[in-house]
Amino acid sequence: MPTLYVIGCAAPPVLNIQTLITRAIDRGWDTCLILTSTADRWLADSKRALIELTGHPVRTDYKLPGQPDLLPPADAMLVAPTTSNTINKWAAGISDTLPLGLITEGIGKGFPLVALPFLNEAQAKHPAFSRSVETLRGAGVQVLLDGEGYTPHGLGGGSGADFPWDLALDRLEPATKSR
Ligand SMILES: Cc1cc2nc3c(=O)[nH]c(=O)nc-3n(C[C@H](O)[C@H](O)[C@H](O)COP(=O)(O)O)c2cc1C
Repeated sequence: MPTLYVIGCAAPPVLNIQTLITRAIDRGWDTCLILTSTADRWLADSKRALIELTGHPVRTDYKLPGQPDLLPPADAMLVAPTTSNTINKWAAGISDTLPLGLITEGIGKGFPLVALPFLNEAQAKHPAFSRSVETLRGAGVQVLLDGEGYTPHGLGGGSGADFPWDLALDRLEPATKSR
């Protein structure tokens, strides 16, 4: 069974991350959840249920040197929802947290990598954002924005209720099979 790392960032759809995990498991992925530290705080009350659902620890922090890996090695990674913060840090190669370390190295390792951003129009208009998206796409990351995925919402909008989780899973499968 291939292993999928789901990396969840601190944007409202992460509050429904169990929807993505359930659908990934239904599609045959051994699914592991890694959360940014802010997303981890948002999901503090759901952690136990998420550990039961995935059958793995939910990771946020780097292990200590010498400690064993707690998760099976990844075959693919899906960053959903991706914040503007994580898009920009990822594109800049910053790896000062476990989620960023996994996805920056993931580019170098050639894993199928899909990012499904969730942000508002004002965040998307910052010049760093379009540069970061271009950098990540140039490095082989499928960034699902606008016609291809999520269109940034207006200020005050965007509950994430209709977040296109399945689209992201659809895009991962052919990439994984062609490896
Ligand atoms: C209630 C709330 C909603 C937020 N929604 C978004 C969002 O939709 N998209 C986004 O990029 N950032 C959003 N943010 C800001 C991120 O949570 C913030 O930039 C955080 O540092 C992201 O950290 P991470 O990328 O490590 O998860 C929101 C913050 C709060 C408090």
